[in-house]
Amino acid sequence: MSALWTSDEIERATLGKASAPFEVKNLVLDSRKATAGSLYLAVKGENKDGHDFIASAFENKAAAALVHKPVDAAGPVLTVAHTQRALEDLARAARARSIAKVVAVTGSAGKTTTKEMLKLAFGALGKTHVSGASFNNHWGVPFSVASLPRDAAFAVFEIGMNHFGEIRGLVPLAKPHIAVITTIAPAHLEFFGNCDAIADAKSEIFEGLLLGGPALLPVDSPYCERLRTRAKQLGVTNILTFGSAACADGRLTHYEETAEGVRIRAEILGKAVDAVIGAPGKHIAANALAALTTVGVAGGDVVTAAAALKDFAALKGRGERIHAHGVEIIDESYNANPASMAAALALLAKAPGRKIAVLGDMLEMGPEGPALHAGIASHLASADLVFLCGALMRSLYDALPADRRHGYAVNSKELAPLVAAAVKAGDTVLVKGSNGSRMGAVIEAIKARAGG
Ligand SMILES: Nc1ncnc2c1ncn2[C@@H]1O[C@H](COP(=O)(O)OP(=O)(O)O)[C@@H](O)[C@H]1O
Ligand SMILES: [Mg+2]
Repeated sequence: MSALWTSDEIERATLGKASAPFEVKNLVLDSRKATAGSLYLAVKGENKDGHDFIASAFENKAAAALVHKPVDAAGPVLTVAHTQRALEDLARAARARSIAKVVAVTGSAGKTTTKEMLKLAFGALGKTHVSGASFNNHWGVPFSVASLPRDAAFAVFEIGMNHFGEIRGLVPLAKPHIAVITTIAPAHLEFFGNCDAIADAKSEIFEGLLLGGPALLPVDSPYCERLRTRAKQLGVTNILTFGSAACADGRLTHYEETAEGVRIRAEILGKAVDAVIGAPGKHIAANALAALTTVGVAGGDVVTAAAALKDFAALKGRGERIHAHGVEIIDESYNANPASMAAALALLAKAPGRKIAVLGDMLEMGPEGPALHAGIASHLASADLVFLCGALMRSLYDALPADRRHGYAVNSKELAPLVAAAVKAGDTVLVKGSNGSRMGAVIEAIKARAGG
């Protein structure tokens, strides 16, 4: 059976009713992404109701639609009581029928990177299914689990959160055999107040870990012991760590930056492995270590898994290198918090040519926001030019010595032309900020620079 779902199976899982029998190959939440064989899920979002896009899904050749309202449709519909609940039902059914070794990944940063590394690493060992993009919330997790092919040998799900109770609600859909926490850092501080609270919220992942399932913790994090205590309280008996400390079960023994990325050597559960990874940075090594330790714990061949990491390339908005008019742009526009800022600036410090930092606000930092922004000053010692935008970055601007302040604007749109006018061939430009700071505008302006 190659179909992801038949209408019979969906009816049984959701107690819904199909207007005609069908089979689907994949699920889509966006009608524009529907292709032949898709099941279009008409889910109600914050602003839009998926039921308004049924026609577009069928125009794109969707095989069927899942709905909870009467609709005019050009193809089969399966009607349920509520599409969001039905998606969760489908996730539970997908998980129940699966023979896959399931890994759940959470953490303040590095979830998607680690998940993508696991896609390569497990992919070298057997059929692997992973969450798409950063689908890690109340619709992303059920969507990813419900999309699990019945014959996958490995599955990796990213689980995110910005409030207490979120992971607790999501992890039972994934029912992981292995839980991984990549790192704990001040993200979403606005809601949590401090990192102890963030560590506790991430620890909810242990509540849904299958009995006896190992938990993997970041040994170099100051919150590792808190996570360990929390895991034990929640009945986890098998706790392993990854990082540089001598006691780590997955231990980094060598780190070297190369022209293409990094070369690492590690000892994974006592076995030495080498890996070449196509993206630079200590955080990349940390995530690779998390991934390889996970493979080791899952009983996979870590040497094969490590070799597969050579195909890892920096992800869009998370360190992807863009070349425009002889300028090397490091695109970190997807997100930012103090930990990832420090990691990215450390990389910029080693870049060739003039080093230009273009930074936008790190959002959701709570009352500590201005101080956390000002604190970035200590990581800017080797930047040649510094451009800043956003209300919070004003604190960093004020904290910089006058000779280091090269440009400030209230938003990225106004900063973009200043940066585009200043850069020249041979420069390396780091562009980083939270997604909401829209730093992509700066990259577009550099690319669009006339004549270059
Ligand atoms: N282990 C890590 N420690 C600190 N920062 C990291 C780590 N991994 C990634 N980052 C930073 O966080 C950004 C987002 O990475 P990503 O893997 O998308 O994280 P997430 O899915 O958790 O949001 C990256 O661009 C990088 O700057
Ligand atoms: Mg992510």
